[in-house]
Amino acid sequence: MNEVSKISPTLLLEGLRAIVGEKACIEVASDMQPFTTDYRKLYHGKALAVVLPASTEQVSAVLALCFAHNVPVVPQGGNTSLMGGAVPDAAGDAVVLNLRRMNQVQEIDVINDTMTLQAGVTLQAARAAAEEAGRLFPLRIGSEGSCQIGGNLSTNAGGTAVLRYGNMRDLTLGIEAVLPDGRIYSSLRGLRKDNTGYDLKQLFIGSEGTLGIITAAVLKLMPLPSASAVAWIAVKDPHAAVELLTEAKRAAGQAVTAFELISGPALALVLESMPQWSAPLPSAHDWMVLIELTSGGDAEGLDATLMSILEQGMERGLVTDAAIAASLADARAFWQLREEISDAQTREGGSIKCDISIPLSKIADFIAEASKQVLALAPDARMVIYGHMGDGNVHFNPLRPKGAPAAAFLAENYARVSHTVDGLATRQNGSISAEHGIGVAKRDDLLLCKSPVELELMWQIKRALDPTNLLNPAKVLPLPTPAP
Ligand code: MLT
Ligand code: ZN
Repeated sequence: MNEVSKISPTLLLEGLRAIVGEKACIEVASDMQPFTTDYRKLYHGKALAVVLPASTEQVSAVLALCFAHNVPVVPQGGNTSLMGGAVPDAAGDAVVLNLRRMNQVQEIDVINDTMTLQAGVTLQAARAAAEEAGRLFPLRIGSEGSCQIGGNLSTNAGGTAVLRYGNMRDLTLGIEAVLPDGRIYSSLRGLRKDNTGYDLKQLFIGSEGTLGIITAAVLKLMPLPSASAVAWIAVKDPHAAVELLTEAKRAAGQAVTAFELISGPALALVLESMPQWSAPLPSAHDWMVLIELTSGGDAEGLDATLMSILEQGMERGLVTDAAIAASLADARAFWQLREEISDAQTREGGSIKCDISIPLSKIADFIAEASKQVLALAPDARMVIYGHMGDGNVHFNPLRPKGAPAAAFLAENYARVSHTVDGLATRQNGSISAEHGIGVAKRDDLLLCKSPVELELMWQIKRALDPTNLLNPAKVLPLPTPAP
């Protein structure tokens, strides 16, 4: 628990306005609402104010002011967290610090293959800037138009191309972050090798704004692929999908850029909410895969490789049908179906989010066992199962039965279903958060899946960097807060 603030709200607001400017300090509750409610509209918080700083110096001054007066600060990027990690709680004593005005790509170094940019640049803008310079920034997630690089970093975002390029940790060479007391840490050096002691940037990446606020980064750029081949494939079951992946990696190696598993109910949900879109295959299937190969070589070669993967899959009885994208427009339409799965669930009132990673060798059995256990608890739930099978990540998201009220379904089942799925993953050495972070939604589940030593070390790091627990309080670290 923080000591009570030593400053009156009026004086604090005056101080904040003096730092960021009047227009960049939002104080009216209704205007703050888009910043205090999460993307899925499941968490509704309150704030003293929302500030929109325009520079690292302003972030530093806001944090120094809040630190001096014991005021909690909730950092926020595009507010697309699925775990309630970017909004304040209902206490109303925190300042939300949104980075959207810090949206400059500062430098693209095509010789060093790096991009230096502020944290508020959207992922879409970062990818476009790289492309304009003839390079690829390979992070790819459905919310790229809204999510920001700072949020991608603070959650160590993953997405659909991790199999080939890795997640945000792998794509980052340096960051700048403001510490809770206003000091500025920077490793914006763009070095691929730097063994000078602890790799501090990795502490901030994935810590969801609990240790510092990331304000800028140096990211790796890759060559732009010149060819791609995409197919939507019906597979017998998840075991067959794993075997097909093994075959694809054997035949195409690194060219396998994405390998997404999609369950029948996940596709059906998208097609119901987007009736103008069509299914890639003529009949419905229980399990499908969206595969993408990319390379710097010629398109014909890649098409031939994809064809031989499919032929092998059919011969071995793994593949039951397939549609190959004949054009870029086809490929885009396939991807649109895949990327809409997330929003389609939100429109249905939200599902029970489980974001599991598990060794590939166990993933198919995990899906079968978790499905059995969940259906025993919530018999008619729609099993919206999909995700980045290529890197061992499955989004396991039971959704209310058609016609059942969303709120009642979530109230009755959220905790018990997610504990069941997360418990099973933990017992199999899996992770309960592959790429979505912990936020509030999974916070207390860390008690079930982290050892006492891990939890103790996490608290020691938190106290070392944020001794008065002011940055994104009550996120990530399980409650109750242990005595120091
Ligand atoms: C996705 O893969 O679509 C995202 O992680 C979002 C989600 O699971 O809802
Ligand atoms: Zn995902």
